[in-house]
Amino acid sequence: MKVAIFAGDGIGTEVMAEAVRVLESLRLPGLTLFEGDVGAIAYQRHGHPLPAETLDMARAADAILFGAVGDPSCDNLDRHLRPEQAVLGLRSELGLFANLRPANVFPGLEDASALKPEVARAIDLLIVRELNGDVYFGDKGMRETPGGEREGWDMMSYSESEVRRIAHTAFRAAQGRKGRLCSVDKANVLETSQLWRDVVCEVAGEYPDVELSHMYVDNAAMQLVRNPGQFDVVVTGNLFGDILSDQASMCVGSIGLLASASLGERMTAHGTFGLYEPIHGSAPDIAGQGIANPMATILSAAMMLRHSFGREEDAARIEAAVAKAVADGVLGADLGGTASTKEIGDAVVERL
Ligand code: NAD
Ligand code: IPM
Ligand code: MN
Repeated sequence: MKVAIFAGDGIGTEVMAEAVRVLESLRLPGLTLFEGDVGAIAYQRHGHPLPAETLDMARAADAILFGAVGDPSCDNLDRHLRPEQAVLGLRSELGLFANLRPANVFPGLEDASALKPEVARAIDLLIVRELNGDVYFGDKGMRETPGGEREGWDMMSYSESEVRRIAHTAFRAAQGRKGRLCSVDKANVLETSQLWRDVVCEVAGEYPDVELSHMYVDNAAMQLVRNPGQFDVVVTGNLFGDILSDQASMCVGSIGLLASASLGERMTAHGTFGLYEPIHGSAPDIAGQGIANPMATILSAAMMLRHSFGREEDAARIEAAVAKAVADGVLGADLGGTASTKEIGDAVVERL
């Protein structure tokens, strides 16, 4: 169980320290952690946000635990040198096309949700976000129009095979849950989405036990706050999935709670090779204060044990320890409490 630890920038290092402590406290035989530089810190040290040695380390690992990247000082660099390219590069270089972002309300946290408690209580959904395509990875650029003004452009596209493989991931996920899949697109306007919808419908023929529905993304954003309990599995493209998952995080209470797994086709001895990360970023506004919520990263480590190492029991233990800490009122500022990053890490380790 070789795990590459890429903490990154800002609160990435703070939340990672707690996730590592939680992992080490399990004393799993055969677990080896090694660290690499990604993001702004890697750019400063090596001149690139995803140095060759980091990529080699990622390839040599069975799983990657990732913190967050991004720093305001890098926001005007050439795009290929920006910290965000580290996570985008890992996702594409390693073929991690399926991003699983579960969202459910911890008992006792209903009042922390931005929604009414009775609406929040019903949330138990999984966003399956495509991660290797869409407007993220198409050609892009800035150019001058014939009229002499600047114009920015980004190419949005999905190929049939890209949609088909993420659709299979989502249908299988629905089979393992409540058997409902909602595909979110913008087929009323975008050809990319029309192809998406057509292919999802074709794949549906292989999963007669899954109830498939379709929703336009604007309506999905609205339904997510009106009645999030209606969703089981949501499958959507890279851009819509990015936005809807941040929104889902506030429906359950905080972005500091949402974990994710990014999976591809490569297998490990006991599961699937993957990259695990909180859905949040480096949070420059609170970095260095020791108040970031590490739960999303700790829960990402649990997902790693489940998906890459086949250690369901250990994953469930971590999740139960986090739930217990929440129930006991160990909450950070993001959830209206006063616990520091380290105190939250301590509380989870104690409950393990
Ligand atoms: P962000 O997720 O970093 O922060 C958004 C807001 O949520 C901030 O107010 C922040 O303080 C709060 N927040 C985030 N995580 C928190 C936590 N664990 N505990 C408590 N509060 C938390 O998004 P942003 O501000 O739009 O982006 C900041 C930087 O992070 C940018 O450079 C962006 O590109 C990058 N980013 C990186 C990743 C990643 O590494 N996967 C993801 C998102 C954003
Ligand atoms: C995320 C982030 C990334 C994304 C950025 C940092 C490239 O927002 O993981 O959700 O847009 O995918
Ligand atoms: Mn995001």
